[in-house]
Amino acid sequence: MSSKNKAGGPSPDKSKGDKTATDTQAVLKTNDIVILQAMATDDLVAALPFNPIKALDQGHDNAISPPPGKTVKPDSSELTASTRTEEAGTAKTGRAAPAGTNATVASLERVRVDAGGEPLTTNQGVRIADNQNSLKVGLRGPTLLEDFILREKITHFDHERIPERIVHARGSGAHGYFEAYDSLSKYSRAAPFARKGKITPVFVRFSTVAGERGSKDTARDIRGFAVKFYTDEGNWDLVGNNMPVFFIQDAMKFPDLVHAVKPEPHHGMPQAASAHDTFWDFASLMPESTHTLMWLMSDRAIPRSYRMMQGFGVHTFRLVNESGESVFCKFHWKPKQGTHSLVWDEAVKISGADPDFHRRDLWEAIESGEFPEWELGLQIFTEEQAEGFSFDVLDSTKLIPEELVPMTPVGRMVLNRNPDNFFAETEQVAFCTAHVIPGIDFSNDPLLAGRIHSYVDTQITRLGGANFHEIPINSPLATVQNNQRDGIHRQGVNRG
Ligand code: HEM
Repeated sequence: MSSKNKAGGPSPDKSKGDKTATDTQAVLKTNDIVILQAMATDDLVAALPFNPIKALDQGHDNAISPPPGKTVKPDSSELTASTRTEEAGTAKTGRAAPAGTNATVASLERVRVDAGGEPLTTNQGVRIADNQNSLKVGLRGPTLLEDFILREKITHFDHERIPERIVHARGSGAHGYFEAYDSLSKYSRAAPFARKGKITPVFVRFSTVAGERGSKDTARDIRGFAVKFYTDEGNWDLVGNNMPVFFIQDAMKFPDLVHAVKPEPHHGMPQAASAHDTFWDFASLMPESTHTLMWLMSDRAIPRSYRMMQGFGVHTFRLVNESGESVFCKFHWKPKQGTHSLVWDEAVKISGADPDFHRRDLWEAIESGEFPEWELGLQIFTEEQAEGFSFDVLDSTKLIPEELVPMTPVGRMVLNRNPDNFFAETEQVAFCTAHVIPGIDFSNDPLLAGRIHSYVDTQITRLGGANFHEIPINSPLATVQNNQRDGIHRQGVNRG
């Protein structure tokens, strides 16, 4: 069957028809975890069927000296796991930490908190008996300003929200791994393609573009398909969409495009939709948007599932090999589940019944061990070939027909692990087209040039300062050494 490799992803054994065997094993394992979790939940409910100290909320003596709350220590860490795929580790997520510990083994395990059965504390680690009743003068108040437990709890709550992304605010993420089919050294020295079977951990976020953070999943819209590769030569972000072309050719027009498609300024409507005057006004003045509009108005614009979408890097990129020779390249993700869409009537009904349709589908598929998979294909071509095309390869409103440049499959990506915490991982993840590694380079596409600037710039506001690369989901597995220092929320304790 399959063994775990260094990075924690399954190593396929093609000679034994491995894919099916691995998948079956994963499903069995996930089912075991489901049963374990259900049994542990039953045990916990039986151990604490009601709040036995509730009555002690009352009365003078209890107010003066509140009794400690009752806790039950679960036998298994499965119970407090936020995802059943906790066991499906990658080098980024690490293995499941033993209950109650934050093992410093892998980058996210270091920060995973398991409070099951642990006593309550303040943020300063001071044990407390009661965070349900504020401190009062006598039983009827007034409430005292010196109740630091009350003020800490409310102050933290007051600051729980961060700005949503200016575009792609609504999204869902998952962990997984990329596996190279073969060495790509002829074209690129990029770490994920170094040798056959090489595994690189990834985090992927799928999104809609126009809607706000709480908008429906089934909007007619382009979908974001952003992949962060935690390579051993640093992070590489392939920040793509589910359509191969874009509305505009020049980054300078992007703010105008987004202002036009977002809700109109006077009444804030419509939400997550392009069927309104400002958008069509923009489109009518920008004939280069016609190609992408054809995609947007097709059935492709309402995917059946995030698992059933293609992904495209859109721009022409460069691959660079060990000798410094470069070729042009376009990136394409192809879902093994097939590419499927909803029709408009289905989408309209579903959006009312379940606005979280795509989020739920991705989460549940992964929880049940039905791990979605994509194949990465490259269109590789030379500058000389590009010169001969009847269109400009630096123009993101054009695609390159496969009849001209066929696809070369180079690897597969499997998403096998749900995040532990939506905010910590999916909300705080920060992708950027400027995050490239040796072996991957930019072309002179003027849209790409604007993006290289835009992402980190916006994230400085969204994530509050210049140190968001230290947030665990963003930090590379490769070590970081440089002379950058200080700034808001700096975590690193630089010596010397
Ligand atoms: C000049 C053109 C563009 C600019 C200035 C731009 C800018 C932005 C900004 C500011 C964000 C929010 C980032 C954050 O807060 O973390 C974003 C998100 C995103 N953009 Fe673009 N964008 C452009 C074009 C594109 C194109 C052509 C694609 C696809 C090929 C794309 C794909 C994405 C994706 C997938 C996200 C969401 C990333 C995530 O899941 O966090 N963008 N973009």
